Amino acid sequence: MIELKNVSKTFQQKNRRIEAVKNVTLSIKPGEIFGVVGYSGAGKSTLIRMINFLEPPTTGEVLINGKNLNQLSKKELLLERRKIGMIFQGYNLLSTATVYENIAKPLQLEGVDKATIQARADKYLALVGLSDRKDNYPAQLSGGQRQRVAIARALAHEPEILLSDEATSALDPETTESILELLLKINQELGITIFLITHEIEVVQRICDRVAVMEAGQVIEEGPVIEIFTTPQETTTKRFIGANENYDVPAEVLATYKKTGRLVRLQFIGSEATEPVLSRVAKDYPLVPNILSGNISYLKEQRHGRLLVELAGGSQQDFEAAKRYITSQGIFIEEVV
Ligand SMILES: Nc1ncnc2c1ncn2[C@@H]1O[C@H](COP(=O)(O)OP(=O)(O)OP(=O)(O)O)[C@@H](O)[C@H]1O
Ligand SMILES: [Mg+2]
Repeated sequence: MIELKNVSKTFQQKNRRIEAVKNVTLSIKPGEIFGVVGYSGAGKSTLIRMINFLEPPTTGEVLINGKNLNQLSKKELLLERRKIGMIFQGYNLLSTATVYENIAKPLQLEGVDKATIQARADKYLALVGLSDRKDNYPAQLSGGQRQRVAIARALAHEPEILLSDEATSALDPETTESILELLLKINQELGITIFLITHEIEVVQRICDRVAVMEAGQVIEEGPVIEIFTTPQETTTKRFIGANENYDVPAEVLATYKKTGRLVRLQFIGSEATEPVLSRVAKDYPLVPNILSGNISYLKEQRHGRLLVELAGGSQQDFEAAKRYITSQGIFIEEVV
């Protein structure tokens, strides 16, 4: 359990004060994958670095499994940090050390015995699929493979929590997907809690259970990924998830449709099929549904469907009644204005 209570971080630079993080309160449950999304400069890296006290907060508290990091001695803090692994966009591997040494060296420094180090290196290199690259140097590996080494290195400390600062941001989409699958596996098989920050909403969509949106140092919105995707409140959140986009329908097309009927966005989660619902609307109400565009994506393992539909004809009353019916079928509906 990670608890951030009213944490703030202010950097003082000569005569300038930078409030990088302002009054953030978040609580991350054991075993979940929690994402923080935000544009560049929002304060994400500063926030994540406060979780392991690489960056102690200016004010506020950080609790890990109920232990208040503010109150620990230097030595206690070092011990506590071992339970928290971290991976970065730039991998942070030692270029002069082999894959094996990159994993072994930090463990040696912690006083772990040789047999254990060997066993763990083998175990976690196998887990990340790099058993055969033990003796390679980082320069001999691709970006995705380097990130796998960094992940194995973090796991070799057998942490309870894994922090990820833009771990996939430097990778191409396919490699990103394979790293995200690996993070999911780590979360599910080892039960490690993952706290990640990213500016890529796809990362959140693919693996996160809950998400917080950060802007100008503050958390402006937070909730289960499904909720944030279906009913976003803040403008920045809507921009991130593309909620205001009309799913690639050209503006000219939309302009003409607005004249004849009402445009609605429909969203559903899970298996509810919208087709039968729309046929019902056509049958039971004096409205003609016309699907302009649509797509289905996945929020972790859940289907998330989005449709842009024109409901032509009928009165305002008919429209309202159809809207109520659609809502009663578990489909989110909102009029496009
Ligand atoms: N050590 C520091 N000293 C002074 N200012 C800092 C320091 N670290 C971060 N900042 C400032 O704090 C703000 C937030 O930075 P941060 O790196 O947390 O953002 P971010 O959301 O991670 O951005 P990005 O997506 O570009 O990585 C920025 O204005 C940044 O310049
Ligand atoms: Mg950052």
